Amino acid sequence: MTNSHKNIERIIERLELLYECGLQEDGTHTRMAFSQEDQKGRALFETWCEEAGLTVRQDAAGNVIARLEGRQADSPAIIMGSHLDTVPDGGKFDGVLGCVSGLEVCQTLSESGRRCEHPLEVIVFSDEEGFRFSAGMVGSSAFVGEAQNMQADDLDITGARREDVYHNAGIDFHKMAEAKRSPETVHCCLELHVEQGGNLDQMGLPVGIVSSIAGVKRMQISVAGEANHAGSTRMDQRHDALVAAAKFIAQLPERVKTLGDQYTVGTVGMIHVEPSAVNVIPGACQFSLEIRDQEAKLMERLATALREDLDQICREAGVSYNWQEQLSHAPMPMHEGLKQLIKEQAEASSIPYTVLPSGAFHDSLLLAEHFPTAMIFVASVAGKSHCKEEYSRPEDLGLGFDLLLETVLAADQIKFFD
Ligand code: GLV
Ligand code: MN
Ligand code: MN
Repeated sequence: MTNSHKNIERIIERLELLYECGLQEDGTHTRMAFSQEDQKGRALFETWCEEAGLTVRQDAAGNVIARLEGRQADSPAIIMGSHLDTVPDGGKFDGVLGCVSGLEVCQTLSESGRRCEHPLEVIVFSDEEGFRFSAGMVGSSAFVGEAQNMQADDLDITGARREDVYHNAGIDFHKMAEAKRSPETVHCCLELHVEQGGNLDQMGLPVGIVSSIAGVKRMQISVAGEANHAGSTRMDQRHDALVAAAKFIAQLPERVKTLGDQYTVGTVGMIHVEPSAVNVIPGACQFSLEIRDQEAKLMERLATALREDLDQICREAGVSYNWQEQLSHAPMPMHEGLKQLIKEQAEASSIPYTVLPSGAFHDSLLLAEHFPTAMIFVASVAGKSHCKEEYSRPEDLGLGFDLLLETVLAADQIKFFD
């Protein structure tokens, strides 16, 4: 079964319609998790699922679970999950492709009168991106029963309380653990996603099979110095929090290159200065620090070395600091049997592919620890992602969809994944 124009056209049309749900007054597009725009996108997606004959429910973590029953009552489900929330002014494909393509698999089979043995579930996981509260994969964490470091009183980037934000999105913060899914009810999980890097595009390949997903550590660092008059405080009398933070940030790229390997990355993506006035020496500075790699031990070593760097810089500057880990996930290989199955489908359908690691994280990072899980990547043109230039070619999307569909059909014939 290979893709028809109808599949690609419907996938692309839905990507566009969901993108428009995130339209902001300033012309940018963002579906921040739990925002009105996110709710609008999810509602639209639910409508499509219902029209296609899937039953739709939301679990206790706000994950949308759309289900098409299989021939065998009570057999474990084949899950196709991803996310619909975006980063600020993000693209059309990140996450959305996996949700829309999962639905397309179900709809294609229904429309051609076919039914799998296993139930098929398309899951929209809540808050995958995590920029709102600084830690993502919220829905998938609850789904696998992993408690995250979250408090009801945590504030989001707008100053709103977590419990209130969740309440407005129909989620009871105190009951999220009820979303835990028991492993016997899951046959396997497959996520189709754009690569978000330029490897496939450079190799001229439409799709990739993910070998493993990078681990991620996120820290919130607060540097405390002394606010003082910017005119009358001599340079040798200052305890400038921003200068200390800036020194650490400026040397980060070289430190990561020196201490890491080809996959290691380190990023400071957010910074806040207090009191943030032209004529006041910064008394406090908070910034985020994120490190990612394919090797858990290397990540630990790097985190320790960076903390020592910060310690030394702060001591020399006469300021203090607080290092708080907000998120930590080890790198995760994808399921061997499923990867093999995807390879066989690619070869049988003459779809050119390679096997490559993912530098971005995905809900599959968490799913893989609990259920047989694998990912298929579609080439991202020029490796652009988390920006509005994110783009994948229709023909590559079509091949990615074909590979997902064929893998679902093949997985359906497998009794049990070890
Ligand atoms: C999610 O897309 C991430 O990798 O930050
Ligand atoms: Mn994503
Ligand atoms: Mn993303």
